[in-house]
Amino acid sequence: MIIREGLIELELNSIAKGNGPGRKAPGYYSQAMVISRDLTISVLKNYFYGSFKALDMLGGSGIRGLRIEKECKAEVTINDNNPKALEIIKRNRELNFSKARITSLDASRCIENFYDYIDIDPYGSPVPFLDPALKSIKKYGLIGVTATDLPNLTGTNFKKGIELYHSKIIRNYYSHESGLRALISFIIKRSAEYELALRPILSFYGGYYYRIFFKVEKGSKKLEKNLDYIQSLNYLSRNKELGPIWIGNIHDTNFIKNLIIEDYMQNSEKIKKYKEIFLNENILFFYSLEELSKKFKRNIPKIDEFISYLKDLGYSASRTQFSNIGIKTNASFVTLRKIFNERFIK
Ligand SMILES: C[S@@+](CC[C@H](N)C(=O)[O-])C[C@H]1O[C@@H](n2cnc3c(N)ncnc32)[C@H](O)[C@@H]1O
Repeated sequence: MIIREGLIELELNSIAKGNGPGRKAPGYYSQAMVISRDLTISVLKNYFYGSFKALDMLGGSGIRGLRIEKECKAEVTINDNNPKALEIIKRNRELNFSKARITSLDASRCIENFYDYIDIDPYGSPVPFLDPALKSIKKYGLIGVTATDLPNLTGTNFKKGIELYHSKIIRNYYSHESGLRALISFIIKRSAEYELALRPILSFYGGYYYRIFFKVEKGSKKLEKNLDYIQSLNYLSRNKELGPIWIGNIHDTNFIKNLIIEDYMQNSEKIKKYKEIFLNENILFFYSLEELSKKFKRNIPKIDEFISYLKDLGYSASRTQFSNIGIKTNASFVTLRKIFNERFIK
């Protein structure tokens, strides 16, 4: 079966539909990941000027690498160590008249060469692939990381979160944000061992996975500053600790502001909406209207109405990708209680 995604045609054995991670078949193609690839193309087009060298470390069907080559005009290497996946990648390279180099290395052990962009898109956790990527990324380069092991990162498997990500992630209404911040913290600490200061420029929560883009910089001041933003927090004043997590920005707002999203992509409209959310999402955590309503014994207000009201009062307020009833705002808890009591009567 032949399908089209971006400017690429793909011959596939199977398609994983729906929102879940799907089966782990060679040359695996997931529809739920199209938006992650569209985002990757947008980010790379806006980050790099001119040609650059990219590595698709875990190729699968080759779709990501082939799209990067064609849509971003990059010199691309696609890697996978599964012989069946390699066959599929070769077929798809021919189908698209691509010049991508194909390698069959164990990506958890080594990467040859140096790259401006490295894409880590595993089944499950990216942890085994971080060291080789950090050894092969160029200064001012970019790393794109996917994690699909959200139960480990969002407190469902509390112990695994500690073992794999060295962070205590508590399950609650904002655990999807805690998990993302725990992953960022882990990757930043790991990169510090290579004297690299990574910074997230765009962070995406795709329902069952995270996708984060890190720019790579050097310098002891940047490294020190980065580590200042990794902290453990007291959880609701009870004797519980959350973290360590990254408490710094999860998006680079200047980068996001200038992000051009081209209309030919399947998810361009969706990404334009996300862009608006990303622009106001750096505040740490959010309020859940459901939690607030329970606390103040009021009905749940309409989220857009509530946001406009807060804005009219001069506060910053916006939705978040982590919850459809979540609000990021600089208004205090006391202010919110007052608004609930005065305005949103039971
Ligand atoms: C989730 S798929 C990649 C999906 C693809 N990037 C996309 O956007 O559709 C992960 C791929 O990593 C490959 N893989 C897993 N472990 C590997 C390793 N140690 N070295 C190289 N490839 C590996 C698997 O064969 C599989 O094809």
